[in-house]
Amino acid sequence: MGAELPLFPVQASTMAGRVDALYAFLITVSVFFGLLIAVTLVSFAIRYRRRSRDERPQPIEGSVALEVAWSAIPLGIVMVIFLWGADLFFAMARVPPAPMEVYVVGKRWMWKTQHLGGQREINELHVPVGVPVKLTMTSEDVIHSFFVPAFRMKKDVVPGRYATAWFQATRAGTYHLFCAEYCGTKHSGMIGSVTVMEPAAFQAWLAGGATGTSLAAAGEKLFQDLACITCHRSDSEGRGPRLEGVFGHPVTLASGERVVADEAYVRESIVNPTAKVVAGFQPVMPTYQGLVNEEGLMQLVAYVKSLGGAATAGPGAALASPAPAAASPAPPSRPKGQGR
Ligand code: CUA
Repeated sequence: MGAELPLFPVQASTMAGRVDALYAFLITVSVFFGLLIAVTLVSFAIRYRRRSRDERPQPIEGSVALEVAWSAIPLGIVMVIFLWGADLFFAMARVPPAPMEVYVVGKRWMWKTQHLGGQREINELHVPVGVPVKLTMTSEDVIHSFFVPAFRMKKDVVPGRYATAWFQATRAGTYHLFCAEYCGTKHSGMIGSVTVMEPAAFQAWLAGGATGTSLAAAGEKLFQDLACITCHRSDSEGRGPRLEGVFGHPVTLASGERVVADEAYVRESIVNPTAKVVAGFQPVMPTYQGLVNEEGLMQLVAYVKSLGGAATAGPGAALASPAPAAASPAPPSRPKGQGR
Protein backbone atom coordinates (compact mmCIF):
# COMPACT_ATOMS: atom_id res chain seq x y z
CA MET A 1 0.00 0.00 0.00
CA GLY A 2 1.27 3.43 -0.80
CA ALA A 3 3.93 1.89 -3.00
CA GLU A 4 2.52 3.37 -6.20
CA LEU A 5 1.54 6.70 -4.66
CA PRO A 6 4.13 9.33 -5.54
CA LEU A 7 3.31 10.95 -2.17
CA PHE A 8 5.35 8.28 -0.40
CA PRO A 9 8.98 7.25 -0.74
CA VAL A 10 9.50 3.72 -2.01
CA GLN A 11 9.16 0.96 0.53
CA ALA A 12 12.65 -0.48 0.77
CA SER A 13 12.73 -2.17 4.17
CA THR A 14 10.84 -4.89 6.00
CA MET A 15 9.27 -2.23 8.22
CA ALA A 16 8.17 0.19 5.51
CA GLY A 17 4.91 -1.56 4.64
CA ARG A 18 3.96 -1.96 8.30
CA VAL A 19 4.64 1.69 9.08
CA ASP A 20 2.63 2.80 6.05
CA ALA A 21 -0.28 0.56 6.99
CA LEU A 22 -0.52 2.12 10.46
CA TYR A 23 -0.13 5.57 8.94
CA ALA A 24 -2.92 4.88 6.47
CA PHE A 25 -5.14 3.68 9.30
CA LEU A 26 -4.50 6.84 11.31
CA ILE A 27 -5.22 9.03 8.30
CA THR A 28 -8.40 7.10 7.48
CA VAL A 29 -9.74 7.37 11.04
CA SER A 30 -8.83 11.06 11.22
CA VAL A 31 -10.40 11.91 7.86
CA PHE A 32 -13.54 9.91 8.64
CA PHE A 33 -14.17 11.64 11.96
CA GLY A 34 -13.04 15.02 10.67
CA LEU A 35 -15.61 14.81 7.86
CA LEU A 36 -18.29 13.37 10.14
CA ILE A 37 -17.93 16.24 12.60
CA ALA A 38 -17.69 18.95 9.95
CA VAL A 39 -20.73 17.72 8.00
CA THR A 40 -22.78 17.20 11.17
CA LEU A 41 -21.83 20.63 12.45
CA VAL A 42 -22.90 22.43 9.29
CA SER A 43 -26.08 20.42 8.71
CA PHE A 44 -27.22 20.78 12.32
CA ALA A 45 -26.50 24.50 12.25
CA ILE A 46 -28.84 24.81 9.29
CA ARG A 47 -31.46 22.33 10.39
CA TYR A 48 -31.81 23.52 13.97
CA ARG A 49 -31.33 27.20 13.34
CA ARG A 50 -33.52 29.61 15.24
CA ARG A 51 -36.50 30.35 13.07
CA SER A 52 -38.24 33.11 15.00
CA ARG A 53 -37.57 35.51 17.86
CA ASP A 54 -40.02 33.75 20.17
CA GLU A 55 -38.72 30.25 19.59
CA ARG A 56 -37.63 28.55 22.83
CA PRO A 57 -35.36 25.51 22.70
CA GLN A 58 -36.63 22.24 24.18
CA PRO A 59 -34.90 21.08 27.36
CA ILE A 60 -32.55 18.14 26.74
CA GLU A 61 -32.81 14.96 28.77
CA GLY A 62 -29.59 13.03 29.46
CA SER A 63 -29.05 9.63 27.84
CA VAL A 64 -26.86 7.03 29.52
CA ALA A 65 -26.78 4.90 26.38
CA LEU A 66 -25.48 7.82 24.35
CA GLU A 67 -22.83 8.70 26.96
CA VAL A 68 -21.60 5.10 27.07
CA ALA A 69 -21.53 4.82 23.28
CA TRP A 70 -19.50 7.95 22.69
CA SER A 71 -17.05 6.96 25.41
CA ALA A 72 -16.68 3.29 24.49
CA ILE A 73 -16.32 3.70 20.71
CA PRO A 74 -13.42 6.21 20.87
CA LEU A 75 -11.79 4.10 23.60
CA GLY A 76 -11.94 1.07 21.35
CA ILE A 77 -10.46 2.99 18.43
CA VAL A 78 -7.57 4.47 20.41
CA MET A 79 -6.82 1.08 21.97
CA VAL A 80 -6.49 -0.37 18.48
CA ILE A 81 -4.11 2.46 17.60
CA PHE A 82 -2.18 1.95 20.85
CA LEU A 83 -1.77 -1.82 20.51
CA TRP A 84 -0.93 -1.61 16.82
CA GLY A 85 1.57 1.18 17.48
CA ALA A 86 3.16 -0.63 20.43
CA ASP A 87 3.53 -3.83 18.42
CA LEU A 88 5.24 -1.91 15.61
CA PHE A 89 7.38 0.04 18.09
CA PHE A 90 8.71 -3.14 19.67
CA ALA A 91 9.36 -4.71 16.29
CA MET A 92 11.41 -1.67 15.32
CA ALA A 93 13.22 -1.55 18.66
CA ARG A 94 14.21 -5.22 18.84
CA VAL A 95 17.27 -5.96 16.77
CA PRO A 96 17.01 -9.39 15.13
CA PRO A 97 19.69 -11.92 16.11
CA ALA A 98 23.07 -11.87 14.33
CA PRO A 99 22.78 -8.57 12.49
CA MET A 100 25.49 -6.99 10.41
CA GLU A 101 26.94 -4.23 12.56
CA VAL A 102 27.71 -0.69 11.44
CA TYR A 103 28.90 2.19 13.58
CA VAL A 104 27.64 5.70 12.82
CA VAL A 105 28.87 9.05 14.11
CA GLY A 106 27.01 12.26 13.38
CA LYS A 107 29.09 15.41 13.34
CA ARG A 108 28.32 18.92 12.11
CA TRP A 109 27.67 18.44 9.27
CA MET A 110 28.29 14.94 8.08
CA TRP A 111 27.58 11.29 8.74
CA LYS A 112 30.57 9.03 9.28
CA THR A 113 30.09 5.30 9.11
CA GLN A 114 32.47 2.47 9.95
CA HIS A 115 32.13 -1.19 9.07
CA LEU A 116 33.56 -4.00 11.17
CA GLY A 117 36.01 -4.77 8.38
CA GLY A 118 37.49 -1.29 8.77
CA GLN A 119 35.78 0.24 5.71
CA ARG A 120 34.83 3.84 6.41
CA GLU A 121 32.46 6.14 4.60
CA ILE A 122 31.32 9.74 4.80
CA ASN A 123 27.71 10.64 4.00
CA GLU A 124 27.31 7.19 2.50
CA LEU A 125 26.42 3.79 3.75
CA HIS A 126 26.63 0.59 1.74
CA VAL A 127 24.65 -2.41 2.95
CA PRO A 128 23.54 -5.73 1.48
CA VAL A 129 19.93 -6.49 0.67
CA GLY A 130 18.06 -8.97 2.85
CA VAL A 131 20.35 -8.80 5.87
CA PRO A 132 19.41 -7.09 9.13
CA VAL A 133 21.78 -4.19 9.78
CA LYS A 134 22.27 -2.90 13.29
CA LEU A 135 23.42 0.68 13.66
CA THR A 136 25.23 1.77 16.79
CA MET A 137 25.13 5.54 16.61
CA THR A 138 26.23 8.61 18.49
CA SER A 139 27.10 12.23 17.90
CA GLU A 140 30.36 14.09 18.22
CA ASP A 141 28.70 17.42 19.04
CA VAL A 142 24.96 18.14 19.05
CA ILE A 143 21.81 16.14 18.51
CA HIS A 144 21.34 14.89 14.97
CA SER A 145 18.82 12.41 13.62
CA PHE A 146 19.55 9.58 11.21
CA PHE A 147 16.62 9.42 8.82
CA VAL A 148 16.16 7.11 5.84
CA PRO A 149 12.62 7.67 4.52
CA ALA A 150 12.66 4.64 2.24
CA PHE A 151 13.28 2.43 5.28
CA ARG A 152 10.76 4.40 7.41
CA MET A 153 13.58 4.57 9.93
CA LYS A 154 14.57 7.61 11.98
CA LYS A 155 16.63 7.70 15.13
CA ASP A 156 18.04 10.62 17.06
CA VAL A 157 21.74 10.48 17.84
CA VAL A 158 22.63 12.19 21.08
CA PRO A 159 26.13 13.17 22.17
CA GLY A 160 27.45 11.09 25.05
CA ARG A 161 25.32 8.02 24.49
CA TYR A 162 24.74 5.24 22.02
CA ALA A 163 21.52 4.88 20.12
CA THR A 164 20.67 1.62 18.42
CA ALA A 165 18.53 1.17 15.35
CA TRP A 166 18.15 -1.54 12.77
CA PHE A 167 16.71 -2.10 9.34
CA GLN A 168 16.58 -4.82 6.76
CA ALA A 169 16.60 -3.56 3.22
CA THR A 170 14.35 -5.38 0.79
CA ARG A 171 15.36 -3.94 -2.56
CA ALA A 172 18.62 -2.83 -4.07
CA GLY A 173 18.97 0.83 -4.88
CA THR A 174 20.20 4.15 -3.57
CA TYR A 175 18.11 5.95 -0.99
CA HIS A 176 18.22 9.34 0.67
CA LEU A 177 19.81 9.77 4.06
CA PHE A 178 18.87 12.92 5.94
CA CYS A 179 19.64 14.62 9.21
CA ALA A 180 16.20 15.20 10.68
CA GLU A 181 17.14 17.31 13.70
CA TYR A 182 18.03 20.95 13.26
CA CYS A 183 21.74 21.10 14.12
CA GLY A 184 23.06 24.41 12.85
CA THR A 185 23.85 26.39 9.71
CA LYS A 186 24.40 23.47 7.37
CA HIS A 187 21.78 21.14 8.79
CA SER A 188 20.09 21.01 5.40
CA GLY A 189 23.38 19.93 3.85
CA MET A 190 23.85 17.05 6.27
CA ILE A 191 22.57 14.57 3.75
CA GLY A 192 23.84 11.46 2.09
CA SER A 193 22.78 8.17 0.64
CA VAL A 194 22.30 4.58 1.62
CA THR A 195 23.21 2.16 -1.15
CA VAL A 196 21.61 -1.25 -0.93
CA MET A 197 23.48 -3.87 -2.95
CA GLU A 198 23.04 -7.49 -3.87
CA PRO A 199 25.17 -9.58 -1.48
CA ALA A 200 27.79 -10.49 -4.09
CA ALA A 201 28.16 -6.86 -5.17
CA PHE A 202 28.33 -5.81 -1.56
CA GLN A 203 31.08 -8.34 -0.91
CA ALA A 204 33.03 -6.90 -3.83
CA TRP A 205 32.46 -3.39 -2.48
CA LEU A 206 33.71 -4.46 0.95
CA ALA A 207 36.82 -5.97 -0.57
CA GLY A 208 37.43 -2.80 -2.56
CA GLY A 209 37.25 -0.64 0.54
CA ALA A 210 39.25 -2.95 2.75
CA THR A 211 42.06 -1.13 4.50
CA GLY A 212 43.62 -4.28 5.87
CA THR A 213 42.74 -3.05 9.34
CA SER A 214 39.48 -4.19 10.83
CA LEU A 215 37.60 -1.98 13.26
CA ALA A 216 38.68 -4.22 16.14
CA ALA A 217 42.33 -4.09 14.99
CA ALA A 218 42.14 -0.29 14.85
CA GLY A 219 40.74 -0.43 18.37
CA GLU A 220 43.56 -2.68 19.50
CA LYS A 221 46.09 -0.22 18.16
CA LEU A 222 44.37 2.61 20.04
CA PHE A 223 44.32 0.39 23.11
CA GLN A 224 48.08 0.14 22.91
CA ASP A 225 48.68 3.77 21.93
CA LEU A 226 46.64 5.02 24.87
CA ALA A 227 48.51 2.58 27.12
CA CYS A 228 45.26 0.97 28.27
CA ILE A 229 47.16 -2.28 28.02
CA THR A 230 49.43 -1.49 30.95
CA CYS A 231 46.50 -1.88 33.36
CA HIS A 232 44.04 -4.07 31.43
CA ARG A 233 46.39 -7.01 31.05
CA SER A 234 45.29 -10.45 30.02
CA ASP A 235 47.24 -12.11 32.88
CA SER A 236 44.97 -10.65 35.61
CA GLU A 237 47.96 -8.99 37.25
CA GLY A 238 46.89 -5.53 36.09
CA ARG A 239 45.33 -2.72 38.04
CA GLY A 240 42.30 -2.85 35.80
CA PRO A 241 39.98 -5.77 35.10
CA ARG A 242 40.78 -8.22 32.34
CA LEU A 243 38.67 -7.52 29.30
CA GLU A 244 38.71 -10.99 27.74
CA GLY A 245 35.28 -12.57 27.62
CA VAL A 246 33.65 -9.59 29.31
CA PHE A 247 31.52 -8.20 26.51
CA GLY A 248 27.85 -9.09 26.67
CA HIS A 249 28.18 -10.60 30.14
CA PRO A 250 27.03 -9.27 33.50
CA VAL A 251 29.65 -7.46 35.55
CA THR A 252 29.51 -7.01 39.33
CA LEU A 253 30.29 -3.46 40.39
CA ALA A 254 31.86 -2.21 43.59
CA SER A 255 28.40 -1.06 44.60
CA GLY A 256 27.16 -4.63 44.38
CA GLU A 257 25.04 -3.76 41.37
CA ARG A 258 25.22 -5.99 38.31
CA VAL A 259 25.22 -4.53 34.84
CA VAL A 260 25.64 -6.05 31.39
CA ALA A 261 28.84 -5.03 29.64
CA ASP A 262 27.29 -3.72 26.44
CA GLU A 263 28.47 -1.01 24.04
CA ALA A 264 27.19 1.80 26.25
CA TYR A 265 28.89 0.33 29.33
CA VAL A 266 32.25 0.02 27.58
CA ARG A 267 31.99 3.56 26.26
CA GLU A 268 31.09 4.97 29.66
CA SER A 269 33.95 3.07 31.29
CA ILE A 270 36.38 4.85 28.96
CA VAL A 271 35.06 8.42 29.22
CA ASN A 272 33.77 8.26 32.80
CA PRO A 273 35.65 5.39 34.45
CA THR A 274 34.56 6.07 38.03
CA ALA A 275 30.86 5.87 37.18
CA LYS A 276 30.79 2.07 37.31
CA VAL A 277 33.86 0.57 38.98
CA VAL A 278 34.14 -3.21 38.82
CA ALA A 279 34.12 -4.96 42.20
CA GLY A 280 37.61 -5.64 43.52
CA PHE A 281 39.24 -2.71 41.71
CA GLN A 282 40.17 0.81 42.77
CA PRO A 283 38.76 3.86 40.97
CA VAL A 284 42.21 4.78 39.67
CA MET A 285 41.54 4.93 35.95
CA PRO A 286 41.77 8.44 34.47
CA THR A 287 39.12 9.66 32.10
CA TYR A 288 39.79 9.48 28.38
CA GLN A 289 37.15 12.09 27.62
CA GLY A 290 38.54 14.36 24.94
CA LEU A 291 41.49 12.08 24.22
CA VAL A 292 39.56 9.77 21.95
CA ASN A 293 36.90 10.91 19.51
CA GLU A 294 33.64 9.05 19.05
CA GLU A 295 34.99 7.05 16.12
CA GLY A 296 37.95 5.99 18.25
CA LEU A 297 35.62 5.04 21.07
CA MET A 298 33.67 2.85 18.66
CA GLN A 299 36.91 1.19 17.59
CA LEU A 300 37.77 0.50 21.22
CA VAL A 301 34.29 -0.90 21.77
CA ALA A 302 34.74 -3.15 18.73
CA TYR A 303 38.08 -4.30 20.14
CA VAL A 304 36.63 -5.15 23.55
CA LYS A 305 33.83 -6.94 21.74
CA SER A 306 36.35 -8.94 19.73
CA LEU A 307 37.99 -10.15 22.95
CA GLY A 308 35.12 -12.51 23.32
CA GLY A 309 31.86 -12.66 25.12
CA ALA A 310 28.50 -12.90 23.47
CA ALA A 311 28.57 -14.82 20.21
CA THR A 312 28.57 -12.50 17.25
CA ALA A 313 28.68 -15.08 14.50
CA GLY A 314 25.87 -15.00 12.00
CA PRO A 315 25.13 -14.07 8.43
CA GLY A 316 25.69 -10.40 9.22
CA ALA A 317 28.91 -10.97 11.12
CA ALA A 318 30.27 -13.12 8.33
CA LEU A 319 29.44 -10.45 5.78
CA ALA A 320 31.15 -7.73 7.73
CA SER A 321 34.31 -9.62 8.55
CA PRO A 322 37.43 -8.19 7.00
CA ALA A 323 37.32 -9.33 3.41
CA PRO A 324 40.57 -10.85 2.24
CA ALA A 325 41.25 -8.62 -0.73
CA ALA A 326 43.09 -11.04 -2.97
CA ALA A 327 43.00 -14.34 -1.14
CA SER A 328 39.52 -15.53 -2.13
CA PRO A 329 38.27 -14.21 -5.46
CA ALA A 330 35.13 -16.37 -5.29
CA PRO A 331 32.33 -14.43 -3.67
CA PRO A 332 30.78 -16.18 -0.69
CA SER A 333 27.39 -17.74 -1.13
CA ARG A 334 24.38 -15.54 -0.76
CA PRO A 335 23.52 -15.24 2.91
CA LYS A 336 20.07 -16.26 4.02
CA GLY A 337 17.92 -13.28 4.85
CA GLN A 338 16.13 -13.15 8.15
CA GLY A 339 12.55 -13.86 7.22
CA ARG A 340 9.92 -11.68 8.71
CU1 CUA B 1 22.65 17.15 11.82
CU2 CUA B 1 20.70 18.39 11.34
